[in-house]
Amino acid sequence: MDRESARQRLSELRREIAEHDHRYYVLARPTISDAEYDRLYDELLDLERRFPDLVTPDSPSQRVGGAPIEGFRHVRHAVPMLSLEKARTAHELQLFDARVRRALEGEEVAYHVEPKIDGVSISLIYRDGSLQLAATRGDGEVGDDITANARTIRSIPLRLRVERPPALLEVRGEAYMDRAGFAELNRKLREAGEEPFPNARNATAGSLKLLDPRLVAQRPLRAVFYAVVRCEGLEFATHAEALAWLRSAGLATPAFTAVCGSIAEVLDRCRELRERETELPYDIDGAVVKLNRLEHWRRLGLKPKHPAWAIAYKPRDWVEQARTRLVDITVQVGRSGVLTPVAELEPVFLDGSTVSRATLHNADEIERKDIRIGDVVVVEKAGMVIPAVVEPLPEFRTGAERRFRMPDRCPVCGGPVVRGRLSSGEGEEVAWRCDNLDCPAQKARRLEYFCRRAGLDIEGIGGIVADRLIERGLVDDPLDLYELRAEELARLNLGTEEEPRVFGEKNAARVLSALERSRRAPLERWLSALGIPEVGDVTARELAVRHRTLADVAESPWLRAIVRRNALLEERRRLRSRAAPAPDTADREHRGRRVAEITAEIARLERQIGAGGRSPVGPVQAAAVLNFFASPRGRMILQRLAALKIEPQGGAASEESTAAGGPLAGQTYVLTGTLNSMSREQAAQRIRELGGTVTDSVSRRTTALIVGQDPGEAKTRRAAELGVPTMDEAAFLRLISNAGDSPPPPRPAQPELF
Ligand code: IVH
Repeated sequence: MDRESARQRLSELRREIAEHDHRYYVLARPTISDAEYDRLYDELLDLERRFPDLVTPDSPSQRVGGAPIEGFRHVRHAVPMLSLEKARTAHELQLFDARVRRALEGEEVAYHVEPKIDGVSISLIYRDGSLQLAATRGDGEVGDDITANARTIRSIPLRLRVERPPALLEVRGEAYMDRAGFAELNRKLREAGEEPFPNARNATAGSLKLLDPRLVAQRPLRAVFYAVVRCEGLEFATHAEALAWLRSAGLATPAFTAVCGSIAEVLDRCRELRERETELPYDIDGAVVKLNRLEHWRRLGLKPKHPAWAIAYKPRDWVEQARTRLVDITVQVGRSGVLTPVAELEPVFLDGSTVSRATLHNADEIERKDIRIGDVVVVEKAGMVIPAVVEPLPEFRTGAERRFRMPDRCPVCGGPVVRGRLSSGEGEEVAWRCDNLDCPAQKARRLEYFCRRAGLDIEGIGGIVADRLIERGLVDDPLDLYELRAEELARLNLGTEEEPRVFGEKNAARVLSALERSRRAPLERWLSALGIPEVGDVTARELAVRHRTLADVAESPWLRAIVRRNALLEERRRLRSRAAPAPDTADREHRGRRVAEITAEIARLERQIGAGGRSPVGPVQAAAVLNFFASPRGRMILQRLAALKIEPQGGAASEESTAAGGPLAGQTYVLTGTLNSMSREQAAQRIRELGGTVTDSVSRRTTALIVGQDPGEAKTRRAAELGVPTMDEAAFLRLISNAGDSPPPPRPAQPELF
């Protein structure tokens, strides 16, 4: 064959092969057999071998180019790769819609709904139609140049399939591994005696980071593109148009997209997307809702971290799971000495953030689920809750896994570990705990608790600062803070001997002024901060409105009455119980008299307690408070506060605002997490005004758990165990506004549907 006909034939072959790659990898509709494809490919290789000078960079043979590289060149993104703001509830999506409509002043708005692909973000630049650069996201500003690796991905065209390509095109998308490809890769790795990847996302990220493109070429990578960020020489009016053009140019775009005129319609499409999630070849982690008109993108612009024209929608009840390796199990010591095993994980991207630690709940659960160190495990994040290890995947075991054993000495102080019952306000829990009240870890966590925002709000004394203050002996009990000198605190070394990092004068001054302010904090905050067993913020408030000073709480006749009433109720129950041996007549009379006496005393106590004896502070809590102040530590606290002239003030039981007979009468709520529209205290106040009760812990009597952002794990878990309904902020707002208009009775919110 002469050179000219070879040139012609090569150009035909390139076009044909690119066409078949496109049909196979992008459209998933191949039109020729593998054998026919191989024939075309072999012919191309043969001709290129005979005419090496006719090889072009966009030839399919050039997908795998040169030799392995040393490392990746850094590239600065012309347009930063931003992340997306998140909406967790339909209400948050509505807030986004309201903001958008306000900014666009009543103009007609259309939204584009698409899947949020859980892969690895990449950016491609085509110049005059040829792939010039592929980059990873990196820190959003600077990423890695992974062009050689991206060229091996056959769903990425080396040349755009359009007659007149734009001079410059930059597109953003996700590289991923489809489910079948991922399973096959793991099978091969296992066969070769190598460690399989715990999930497709890690496999994709790991593959893109390989320094040898020949190895990358063997990985089943794909890519899909969801945004045009720069384009010179072409204009699109809408995002949908831009995606359609990308498809015509040979780039894959997400399936199941829709253009919607309202948020109600957006929610419908999101629900549909969720139902059909498994039909997609990639994992998704929500939906992305974008404004459709590109003019609107320009008008709304960018916020510091997110575009203002898009939002990711991921409802709370969409439980996000991922697989990763459990590298180790460490043991943490809490404020009351409870030892909690913590899963140390190979970092995994889960629900918008990288997770490297997760809770394992307790040692019993580890044993029950047979979770072993070294296992590949499923981790889960339901809504904003702290990630938890759900289960091990025994099929990944190699035999090198180890079982976990709770240490018999505290990992921090070396003190004895005891297994004891721990009353958690609602029932009892068996827990392992460090029995040494002087354990530095316990002290540091107590100090941290004292300083937390809902406590005395001493910013800056948490984590490592608390650890170091205790370690260096500067603080032993939280009250020692009030005797700290600014210089001591400023010199506190948070680093190491070799690399010191001091707390600094400015921070020290800030802490001292917060401490000064805290002297005048109300009784309620002091009661929260002291870390009295069983006393959370709500109980602290209930105690504070009924007592004037800490000494009053310590000696409280009201608390005594609650404890006494409970003891009498028990005694009466026992006396009346049929299980008791049949009494003789004298005994029966004696019992009858005793029951009458008890009943009279209970009635008296109930008058003293108020609210028919149904006080928001239960007997377990009341006893815990009295015991605390009678203990050596409690007595020491009272003495020291007096010496420090700190006299927190409470009182004004008349402030008691529970509206008996209000629309929420008889309902009990527990709050957890942060609400957007009001503080927790305001929310509790509102519930009380409507006649409801607010308590600190979830029990069978709880009507609903109101869940804000970053909710507490214990409360959500307890609610799930007891089948107590949860309510998000939007549902809570509906509840109080409905109740405010008087009946209908409150209904716990339906869980959000995707
Ligand atoms: S739009 C300019 N759309 O989610 C583009 N992002 O949390 C701004 N992602 O970094 C992002 N699917 O890597 C967009 N359909 C989609 C997406 C998507 C997945 C990723 C993307 C982004 C992250 C934000």
